[in-house]
Amino acid sequence: MPSDEFIVTPWHVEGEIDYDKLIKQFGTEKITPDVLKKIEKTTGETHFMLRRGVFFSHRELVRILDDYQKGKKFFLYTGRGPSGHTHIGHLVPWVFTKWLQEKFDTNLYFQLTDDEKFYAKQDLTLEQTSKFAYENALDFIALGFKPEKTKIIINTKNIKTLYPIAAQVAKKINFSNTKAVFGFTGETNIGMIFYTSLQSAPCFIEDRPVLIPLGVDQDPHFRVTRDVAPKIGREKPALIHNIMIPSLSGPGGKMSASEESGTIYTTDSPEMIKKKINKYAFSGGQATVEDHRKIGGNPDIDVSYQYLRIFFEPDDKKLKTIYDDYKSGKMLTGELKAILIEKVTEFLVAHQQRREKAKDQIEKFLYQDQ
Ligand code: TRP
Repeated sequence: MPSDEFIVTPWHVEGEIDYDKLIKQFGTEKITPDVLKKIEKTTGETHFMLRRGVFFSHRELVRILDDYQKGKKFFLYTGRGPSGHTHIGHLVPWVFTKWLQEKFDTNLYFQLTDDEKFYAKQDLTLEQTSKFAYENALDFIALGFKPEKTKIIINTKNIKTLYPIAAQVAKKINFSNTKAVFGFTGETNIGMIFYTSLQSAPCFIEDRPVLIPLGVDQDPHFRVTRDVAPKIGREKPALIHNIMIPSLSGPGGKMSASEESGTIYTTDSPEMIKKKINKYAFSGGQATVEDHRKIGGNPDIDVSYQYLRIFFEPDDKKLKTIYDDYKSGKMLTGELKAILIEKVTEFLVAHQQRREKAKDQIEKFLYQDQ
């Protein structure tokens, strides 16, 4: 694949993504300074992930905000395909979703698609994806959502609720349609072909508008859902998209849960965090200290810096100092990595304690079919 090309689909991300191009390709809207102002006016503040373009694109977010200001409430929906253990990249949209839930005081549904990952991955059994669904749910709960307002839907467990909605949706999607959107072929199993209707179902679980924070790779599913919505007499889901989180070993592809070395899992020990970052984190530094002092580093391609920007350093002033010092050569790669190691360790040690407690809370979060 030529270096200026990229692919973004729900099951495959490749190449270095040009997000402005992707907005055009997908037909979404950029989050402009005006949209940011509107969010700030409604919530009283902006989140650093918005200010820094980690959430960069949307569909009809403005309608949701306008309606909200007029007193029409919405609910939130996001999800996770349990194909492996949770890594720090997964937490990005969840942490942002938590902020939205607090600011707008909304209900939230979190879908775990154990069926999807069983269909999509040759080597995974349904038992394995169900086990990962449970493990992923612990990480989600550990972030501190309120059980009264937050429900976890597991596809194979909550099918009684999902199926009647999915059936409404499925009837309005034809095979040519999904083939065109997802590139399915004659060899694709029919579970995959039906699957979009199940990912659509939680959009219509409450009789009010929905806002979905999600990785931009998931947009194609909801493009389909948005086409279907008026045909079943419902409002189109609104979306807010985050960028793909780079793997430790470098840009060009999202952090994949199946690629051990390039991935920091939420259950990694301080020793593992340190080892992985020191050994694998792609560096924007120069080959020698001498050159680095002279030429400076490149924070824009340095993964340690990017992790601080995307997640681990919410303080804009501190982040800017790191950026400037690294770029000027004052800060060395080892020093930058040490900052990240400290931040990740501090976060994960606390997260792991909350994750243990989540084992006793999970029942309260699981959606109960009526
Ligand atoms: N298909 C998603 C994944 O593989 C999981 C998912 C289900 C999801 N519903 C969602 C993601 C809603 C974002 C929003 O990760």
